[in-house]
Amino acid sequence: MKRSEVNEIIRESDKFIRSFGYVMPPFAYWSPEELKARTATDSRAILQARLGWDITDYGQGKFDELGLFLFTTRNGNQEDLKKGGGMLYAEKIMISREKQLSPMHRHIVKAEDIINRGGGTLVLELFNSNPDGSVDEKTDVEVATDGRIVRQKAGGLLKLQPGESVTLLPGNWHAFWGEGGDVLIGEVSTVNDDLTDNIFREPIGRFSSIDEDEAPLHLLVSDYDKWLA
Ligand SMILES: [Fe+2]
Repeated sequence: MKRSEVNEIIRESDKFIRSFGYVMPPFAYWSPEELKARTATDSRAILQARLGWDITDYGQGKFDELGLFLFTTRNGNQEDLKKGGGMLYAEKIMISREKQLSPMHRHIVKAEDIINRGGGTLVLELFNSNPDGSVDEKTDVEVATDGRIVRQKAGGLLKLQPGESVTLLPGNWHAFWGEGGDVLIGEVSTVNDDLTDNIFREPIGRFSSIDEDEAPLHLLVSDYDKWLA
């Protein structure tokens, strides 16, 4: 993706998010220079927990069809996970645009509640895993949606209206997209490691490669290793 495109998506997404009365934390608006200065002093946690902007086209260069906007607002500690106590949770705010696919994937560690916070309908395609981890094309899928167990056929579509949510457990294969409009999505989950805990059905990348045609408005999480080293 071009950096100018990433900057434009940041501007549009911020406006969309604010239209629902949700405001992101102060560090969202730090310039790259300020982020660099602060993560070297009192804000190392942003770097360590990989908080912040995350715009991905899954490396395929067609963001409108295949992509997702994410902002990680909080993320716990992998060490706490091993200890079994402490900051074991994470939270993201995301936008799935109308007909914009987040491709079929599962997680090994992370359980996640995916919440329609407003806008269009959020559609999720769901499968179980086979014992070897691959997509189980046959068995019915059972998931919890707002305290209710829903059972549907393999590959069935679960449609979430604003206010509705689903709990996806490790092993639940899922793909999702917006229908009838762009969707503001909340994610509440187990500690999150996007470098290791996303298994995609098709061979695909998790992050975008960026063509630097202008200066970044804000850094993406995927820029941190290069820009804040
Ligand atoms: Fe997921």
